[in-house]
Amino acid sequence: MNQALSNKFVLTTPLYYVNDVPHIGSAYTTMVADAIARWHRLQGKSVLLITGTDEHGQKIQRTAESKGLEPQEHCDRVVEQFKTLWERLNIQYDRFSRTTDPTHQIIVNEFFQRVWDKGDIYLDQQQGWYCVSCEEFKDKRELNDDGTCPLHPNKKAEWRDEENYFFRLSKYQQPLEELYTKNPGFIQPDTRRNEVLNFVKQGLKDFSISRVHLDWGFPIPNDPTHTIYVWFDALLGYVTPLIKAEQEVNLSNALANWLPFNLHLIGKDILRFHAVYWPAMLMSAELPIPERVFGHGFITKDGLKMGKSLGNTLDPFALVDKYGADAVRYYFIKAIELGKDGDFSELRFIEVLNADLANNLGNLLNRTLGMLKKYCQGNCPQLTAADYPETHPLKLIGQQLGDKVIKAYETLQFKYTCEEIFALINAGNKYIDDSAPWSLFKQGKQKEVELILYAVLESVRLSAYLLSPIIPNLSNDIYQQLGFNLDFNNKTQINQSTIFEQHSQWGKLPANSNLGKARPIFAKIELPEDV
Ligand code: MSP
Repeated sequence: MNQALSNKFVLTTPLYYVNDVPHIGSAYTTMVADAIARWHRLQGKSVLLITGTDEHGQKIQRTAESKGLEPQEHCDRVVEQFKTLWERLNIQYDRFSRTTDPTHQIIVNEFFQRVWDKGDIYLDQQQGWYCVSCEEFKDKRELNDDGTCPLHPNKKAEWRDEENYFFRLSKYQQPLEELYTKNPGFIQPDTRRNEVLNFVKQGLKDFSISRVHLDWGFPIPNDPTHTIYVWFDALLGYVTPLIKAEQEVNLSNALANWLPFNLHLIGKDILRFHAVYWPAMLMSAELPIPERVFGHGFITKDGLKMGKSLGNTLDPFALVDKYGADAVRYYFIKAIELGKDGDFSELRFIEVLNADLANNLGNLLNRTLGMLKKYCQGNCPQLTAADYPETHPLKLIGQQLGDKVIKAYETLQFKYTCEEIFALINAGNKYIDDSAPWSLFKQGKQKEVELILYAVLESVRLSAYLLSPIIPNLSNDIYQQLGFNLDFNNKTQINQSTIFEQHSQWGKLPANSNLGKARPIFAKIELPEDV
């Protein structure tokens, strides 16, 4: 890969359906994607995080009808909710892609034409069971006995018998198999990869990419009695926002800057679309194939599947209002292993936050800064890593931490990232307890006290830096208290490889004469009575 390409990172979240206000599932994917984007920015890369909304199709049309609204009006309202939630969760997306945007239709038409010219689209009869909530045809054997879809047990699949345009997916059976073999990292994690391989092995069938009797969507060029299937249109919603504002809207401008996509982060339920249909569509149009599709797991609440009909949804707005963005981000990124299903319970949420952020991290910073004030007039000692032996307990962990964390972030193992960082923080707490600087101070051992306090503060600083993609506001707070003028929410300021090289190493805390005022960074959460 050439230098320019290896120095860019373009990633996407799914484009969320606007049939309802955002739920915790969409918030989860977006928080993780934001942490990944921030991590790459921290290293000085050019990053493009694309999120957005999927606004066409029967599901949205019906929802709008049920509310007595025009579909566009309905979409505009819900989109505002998504944007508001992303702001509250401190999501720094670079582009917000809306599939109802007029520029998108130009791209969809051009893409459709390419695939048409390839001979990969034909008209045929479609018969089958359609789940409107999934916007997908299902095999009879995939449905529950009562005809409902396993993902939407309160909605019956509907019988369809109509003429549709089809995409020749079957033609791409072999090229897809080659893709999976040549690039084993294309689908992650392995369990998801195996699911896809098994599905493809059974033989790929062409799928319909148009609908009749549906107005809410783009008409098929040359045959406006058909509307383009919502998924065909939605996947291309990743491409349209690649065009710069000042550029003419066409496919070649979209393709010029950023492709291939480095990562599509999605939930496991929409894996087939991203790992089978999408690469085949791209092959047909002769566009670059994404590097990686990562399918994460599902979140349950108190051990149960969430759902409106079950009355146990988890409102992301309420959660962020109550606990703040960093708390919510931290829990979902640290406590749930990306790729596996994970659970939310308010009790566990509070326990994790209190243990990690309030006690281990917050208290360590607070008490160390307090001692520094008392024993060193608040001045950071003039020390560097060279003043410590290689066997020093914090230097030992600290010097290896950068490499471990880089690897963990690259492989999207955030749980492990946090655990490694907290191993240093916990070692800092133990070290200060064991070495008891308060009694050394009484014995007049000033140099020893300084060595201890510097090592601990430096460990907190390094931890804050490496955690900044996950908890940017808390990292800002810590950095401020340590006398730095670096804002982790300022994309341009932190997006520099030279800063990364310095700050991701242990022992680089400069001798700032003026440390900020010590104040608790994360107040311990009291257990509410109903928890
Ligand atoms: N519109 C399509 C995506 C098109 S991408 C070109 C779509 N939208 S969605 O709003 O229904 O789903 C968005 C994401 O939320 C999916 O990745 C899905 O996996 C995720 N989640 C929905 N419920 C979830 C949980 N309970 N837990 C975690 N994520 C889940 O599909």
